Amino acid sequence: MSLLHIVKYPHAALTTPAAPVVAFDAALATFIDDLAETMYAAEGVGLAANQVAELKRVCVIDCAGQDEPAALLELVNPQVVHGDGKIVWEEGCLSFPELYERVTRPGHVRVAYQDRTGAAHEIEADGLLAVALQHEIDHLDGVLFIDRIGPLARRRALDRFTKIMARRRADGIDD
Ligand code: CO
Repeated sequence: MSLLHIVKYPHAALTTPAAPVVAFDAALATFIDDLAETMYAAEGVGLAANQVAELKRVCVIDCAGQDEPAALLELVNPQVVHGDGKIVWEEGCLSFPELYERVTRPGHVRVAYQDRTGAAHEIEADGLLAVALQHEIDHLDGVLFIDRIGPLARRRALDRFTKIMARRRADGIDD
């Protein structure tokens, strides 16, 4: 397994829709393993292929708490097939280090997806998992959490993020 490089906003892969996976082969399995390893190393709860500059509809999620066993979800070609209710969550994103924004989304979702072998599954979720599923599936469509907070808040968030990244580069944290 190997760690992949997580790209930061405004990398073009983050705003480009990913293509459906059609080959459920060894290369896909390796990619999913690497994506999960990269997510855990970065201490994220989710990571989408776009964030490692691979335009494939693949994401991984693990919302387990620190004292709970790992609960890795590997989703290929995921789609929200039903959403209802409402949840407000302060979201972050590994492609936007140190930026947190309150995002309103459906609080309960049903998601259809395939696993690494191509078998079809559905999952129902609420709370943090519902948020993570929607956040990661948005990534696969080239949509970012800052696109979900309204134009004024989006502009303010991007102004703050520009300053965050300037400081991180000055500190040698990001290139
Ligand atoms: Co994200």
